Amino acid sequence: MSILITGVAGFIGSNIARCLVQAGHLVIGFDNLCRGKRSNLAGLIGHERFVLETVELSDGVVYREALARAHCHEPVTEVWHMAANSDISAGIADAGIDWRDTFMTTFNTLEIMKELKIPVLVFASSSAIYGDFKGARIREDMGPLLPISNYGAMKLASEAAISAASGSWLSRAFLYRFPNVIGVPATHGVIYDFIHRLRVNPAVLDVHGNGTQQKAYLHCDDLIDAMLFIRAKAPENFTYYNIGPLDMGVTVRFIAEEVAALVAPCAKINYGEDSRGWVGDVPKFAYSIDKLRALGWKPSLDSTAAVRRAIRDIAEQEMASCDKP
Ligand SMILES: NC(=O)c1ccc[n+]([C@@H]2O[C@H](COP(=O)([O-])OP(=O)(O)OC[C@H]3O[C@@H](n4cnc5c(N)ncnc54)[C@H](O)[C@@H]3O)[C@@H](O)[C@H]2O)c1
Repeated sequence: MSILITGVAGFIGSNIARCLVQAGHLVIGFDNLCRGKRSNLAGLIGHERFVLETVELSDGVVYREALARAHCHEPVTEVWHMAANSDISAGIADAGIDWRDTFMTTFNTLEIMKELKIPVLVFASSSAIYGDFKGARIREDMGPLLPISNYGAMKLASEAAISAASGSWLSRAFLYRFPNVIGVPATHGVIYDFIHRLRVNPAVLDVHGNGTQQKAYLHCDDLIDAMLFIRAKAPENFTYYNIGPLDMGVTVRFIAEEVAALVAPCAKINYGEDSRGWVGDVPKFAYSIDKLRALGWKPSLDSTAAVRRAIRDIAEQEMASCDKP
């Protein structure tokens, strides 16, 4: 019996793989390495309970062949579908990116799971499906769902396709609506971006937007803890949960100041004028996680503590990558 993780070489996929292998599962990881890296899987590559394959998941034929081969060798009992485009701005400029990497990877996952009779799907959804609720705490039953990015639109379309599959052949589906998730190995995101820019020019940090953007941040360790908790405890066969911290989040100004204090204390921070960072950005976002609290889970870190820990860890990651010959 094995578990397939798609997008395994990315930030969240690699952390999940480590966790599932440590728990004794046999893990097969697929990734096309467009944004993920082999180095994110240090300690897993070569492990007897882990296999990495480079697979383009938007190509149904290639994906089917790879999964059928793996399934024949060791039956795959569930799929954790983490692969997607993680560059929301790139998807605004070219809607084809999210069509291919965010939606088609999900569509193909479902088609192949159906054919191979794989009964359980765990899906990485996002707060981006909700659109802009102007900072109100978002509950799972709020609507209408009007995403403002192609990324959000293709995540919502993916949820819809999974819902339809659950209505016919898929035995169990877990839709996890992530907030901003932070930690290492960081591949993208505001903290990673600020650290990178300050290392290139320690004198100045130009911030997109006026710094008042406020969002909920969750550490990746808490995210995975919640995912496993829901997987074990949720009674429904088709279920969807917001996963996040209990607080209303922190501002971009707070993050910029904390990053600068650690990486380049003399940096001048310049803010823009717009209240949002870029087209497609939801400037203020917080979750209600009452549904998850009722199931019995709570996070160990709030947004402030998660951001501070991630800043330290990502700065260390980037120093280590520069030290390498
Ligand atoms: N990090 C966050 O804050 C956050 C928030 C909400 C949702 N999510 C979702 O969680 C999942 C993981 O995100 P992440 O932060 O680890 O991003 P990531 O970019 O680090 O990982 C995504 C992985 O998917 C792979 N991939 C993308 N398109 C592919 C394709 N066509 N074929 C094969 N592999 C492909 C990439 O190479 C990458 O390794 C994604 O589905 C993302 O949308 C993340």
